Amino acid sequence: MALLGLRNVSKIYHTGGEEIRALDDVSLDLQSGEFISIIGPSGSGKSTLMHVLGCLDSPTHGEVRLDGVDISRATAGQLAKVRNRTIGFVFQSFNLLPKLNVLQNVELPMVYAGMGGGPRRERAMEALRQVDLAHRVKNRPNQLSGGQQQRVAIARALVNDPKIILADEPTGNLDTHTGELILNLFRDLSRQGRTVILVTHNPEIAAVTPRRIEIRNGKIADRLDERLAGLARAAASPA
Ligand SMILES: Nc1ncnc2c1ncn2[C@@H]1O[C@H](COP(=O)(O)OP(=O)(O)O)[C@@H](O)[C@H]1O
Ligand SMILES: [Mg+2]
Repeated sequence: MALLGLRNVSKIYHTGGEEIRALDDVSLDLQSGEFISIIGPSGSGKSTLMHVLGCLDSPTHGEVRLDGVDISRATAGQLAKVRNRTIGFVFQSFNLLPKLNVLQNVELPMVYAGMGGGPRRERAMEALRQVDLAHRVKNRPNQLSGGQQQRVAIARALVNDPKIILADEPTGNLDTHTGELILNLFRDLSRQGRTVILVTHNPEIAAVTPRRIEIRNGKIADRLDERLAGLARAAASPA
């Protein structure tokens, strides 16, 4: 069973009497431990797809299944719960709070979840060790390099032990070498069994992931490539 499955998903916006199919009949299965990029030009529907995959938004038509549960018609509150339990987000601009130190930034999702101080600190430290930043806990974000800030953001995404990590242009503000280090970190996380999804418009970044999903005009563009990848996966792990 796929960890995350989309069946004939469409997302339609109505603006000024016009209908925009941001996603147009998209079907897709993502397995645990996959490292995937979603690539496509600006306006192709990447962010819309990411919002649906990340349980930030519901489709207009079609079905979304997470861990076998149909969440297509879930309420905003139900989606928020699923999201907090299952998904970690990483953004291009890191989205760290400048007045909090590294440790406090990483603890924040657990503060929102109502967790007590002791376990919170322990988990935050464990996540910071994973990104090799346990020695910088007292620093404010602006005392760190861009790559270090993104590693703090990744630690923050890890504290709820998410099955899925969704990253929107995570290396967009980093130089090439630092970007590679961050991509290596994502690869390690996928090897731990987490599904890591990178959204990017950069083909060089998409080239590092074993699987690529190309989206154009709201549709998955390279159907044949996807079908062959599906067959290869099925052959590698018979049900
Ligand atoms: N909230 C919205 N209201 C109306 N149109 C939208 C909205 N969000 C996205 N769109 C449109 O849907 C299409 C896909 O957008 P988007 O998913 O943001 O693409 P990308 O992330 O690949 O640049 C675009 O034509 C965009 O203008
Ligand atoms: Mg976008």
